[in-house]
Amino acid sequence: MQEKNLYSIRMRASSGDRHISGAERIVAFGNVDTTVRDLIARATGKGCRPDRIMVTVDHLMDTAIQRLTALDLITLAVPDAESGRSAASQVLRGAGVSAQAASAAIKYIGTGASARGGTMRGAMIMDARTGERLEPDAERGVRASRFDWSDEAAEKIRCLLAGIGLTHLRTIEALALATKVAHAPGMAAELCWSDDPDYTAGYVASLETGYVRFPFLKEQGDEKGGRAFFINRDGTNIDSLIEYLQTTAVLIVDTGTCKPEIDPEEFFEERVKGQGA
Ligand code: COA
Ligand code: AMP
Repeated sequence: MQEKNLYSIRMRASSGDRHISGAERIVAFGNVDTTVRDLIARATGKGCRPDRIMVTVDHLMDTAIQRLTALDLITLAVPDAESGRSAASQVLRGAGVSAQAASAAIKYIGTGASARGGTMRGAMIMDARTGERLEPDAERGVRASRFDWSDEAAEKIRCLLAGIGLTHLRTIEALALATKVAHAPGMAAELCWSDDPDYTAGYVASLETGYVRFPFLKEQGDEKGGRAFFINRDGTNIDSLIEYLQTTAVLIVDTGTCKPEIDPEEFFEERVKGQGA
């Protein structure tokens, strides 16, 4: 993939005020046409009939592209949302997020983090120590954008994830988003679960812990979901952080490790042993 010839392609589909789906790619000029078609097919697939599909194509020629290796991935075998949230909170603490901030984020996402108590259009930014909300607009939040896998890394991650039974496109896209977010200046960790009522899995991600998945962070049928970006506030310029999340182009050019599901206790014991070594 030639860096000078790359384009950011972003699709969003909506029905009235309701966001239905969104996805993005970074591709070479020669692949723009097919990628636009693929993204439109995605917007109209699975019986969806959006009122509006917006596709934006931007040349990235003068933009510096950051090349990253994906976070390592592991799944903790939690049986339900309650144990999932408790384990997620413990992982967040391992990434330097206080118990107070972790618990505030879980409460916000679980009850509707937007100013009006609904789902936000992006992520909260929270002080990793106090849990204070720092995003400029609590209805919108902040959206990470302009990231993708290189062709080679995409092929490799598909194989690695399929090898441990993870074939959902969402996992690959969330891992790319989380890898970009984890490398943001001042970022301590991210917590996410979807607002899709049929998708109960979620994750905690950070440079410290890697991408830690939980099959359950909410109950089936629950329409609440969201994201929290926890930051180390001292020395972090929030405007630069938001600028990085929204506009810096990131290509994930290699994969990390992808481990099969393990018991949470085993995961925490291994981390303690690792820290002692
Ligand atoms: N929820 C609700 N509304 C959304 C939305 C979302 N997730 N994403 C976009 N919109 C709507 C909003 O009205 C937004 O206006 P706002 O900025 O006032 O909130 C408007 O669309 C324009 O959004 P913008 O981000 O400027 O559009 P874009 O075309 O540049 O990019 C996306 C749209 C959806 C591709 C991008 O925002 C995104 O989320 N990329 C990541 C996709 C991904 O891989 N996610 C991982 C899934 S696990
Ligand atoms: P999703 O994983 O797409 O179901 O999104 C889960 C939640 O994350 C949404 O309800 C939004 O609050 C938030 N969100 C969606 N897209 C983004 C993004 N690109 N960056 C940050 N947060 C997002």
